[in-house]
Amino acid sequence: MKVLEVRNLRVRFDTERGPVQAVDEFSLDLAQGETVALVGESGSGKSVASLALLGLVPDPPGVIETGEVLLGGENLLAASPERLRRVRGREIAMVFQDPRSALHPLLPLGLQLSEVLEVHEGLSRREARVRAAQALGEVGLSDPEARLDSYPHELSGGMRQRAMIAMALICKPKVLIADEPTTALDATVQVQILDLLRTLQRQYGTAILLVSHDLGVVARIADRVQVMYAGRVVEVALAEELFDRPLHPYTRGLLASVPRLRGPASRRLESIGGAPPDPLNPSPGCAFAPRCGFVQEACRKQRPPLSGVPRAVSDVLLVGGRRSACFERERLDLATPGTAADRSAGGPGVEEARDSGRSRP
Ligand SMILES: Nc1ncnc2c1ncn2[C@@H]1O[C@H](COP(=O)(O)OP(=O)(O)OP(=O)(O)O)[C@@H](O)[C@H]1O
Ligand SMILES: [Mg+2]
Repeated sequence: MKVLEVRNLRVRFDTERGPVQAVDEFSLDLAQGETVALVGESGSGKSVASLALLGLVPDPPGVIETGEVLLGGENLLAASPERLRRVRGREIAMVFQDPRSALHPLLPLGLQLSEVLEVHEGLSRREARVRAAQALGEVGLSDPEARLDSYPHELSGGMRQRAMIAMALICKPKVLIADEPTTALDATVQVQILDLLRTLQRQYGTAILLVSHDLGVVARIADRVQVMYAGRVVEVALAEELFDRPLHPYTRGLLASVPRLRGPASRRLESIGGAPPDPLNPSPGCAFAPRCGFVQEACRKQRPPLSGVPRAVSDVLLVGGRRSACFERERLDLATPGTAADRSAGGPGVEEARDSGRSRP
């Protein structure tokens, strides 16, 4: 069942140096209980796209030019500020990279968690405290009742992130947006937090939109992936398919630049050769063309549409099928089926992460 549908979202920033098209023609479907990852290099529009879903793009300088964000048929982009405040936290919750930005440093955890319940569910102070302690227990904090009186600074980074997750999920939202939820944590804690998200997701049927640089993280928990480049989605695939058979030259670059990994560690993506796109000087053609090894004349003049890929396994499984925005899509596809070059260049890191993901409980 589809819980969230985003159609043709366009977000622009009017900066002092000129307009920046941060997100363009962005669409997304999110079904109950699934995890979709947005990946792409810094500045590709992942955070802006996810903030826009909740009306959180700063305005000014941000302008939502077009788009629909449908939650159970209701367009949130047309909703009143009051309505959006109710949706936030209750129906769509967010977890950010830095828990310090979401947990108030001067208030005990119990108060912060109870407040969410008092506001959104109208519970009494006492009922809310009981639920808050339960929630802290569910995310694996020991002695949750005593924890209600802890202040955020008394917790380790991993525990703070668990508390954040407890706060995000306390009203059992339909959708959780997690923007780099584990980037600040060390590798072992990162794996624990991802497993926790997965477990709670199963328990509540929450759909997760995961924003991440880290293909190890993506391989561990995502069902589907949308790759972003210069504000646009350039490839959509089931996670397995994307790692086995990346079709867009940018995705291939991303996978190839993942370092080999040993052990549970995963790393941030390395950059791809050539300069990242200049948002103040967008090209009329494919934004990746200047860095692309497969570039043709047409790529510099026209923008390739995001369109279906023949013989994709996901055609039967995926709404809209597997898609890639590249004029050379078919040539690349024929050259791909997990080419030796791609695998030896970068596969192992991702494959290991994926294997550990498969063996998840
Ligand atoms: N408040 C803002 N004012 C002006 N431009 C902004 C603002 N926020 C984001 N942008 C621009 O929008 C584009 C997309 O930024 P966004 O933060 O979504 O990138 P991202 O993919 O999340 O990157 P990262 O991986 O570094 O978090 C960038 O060009 C960025 O400079
Ligand atoms: Mg971001």
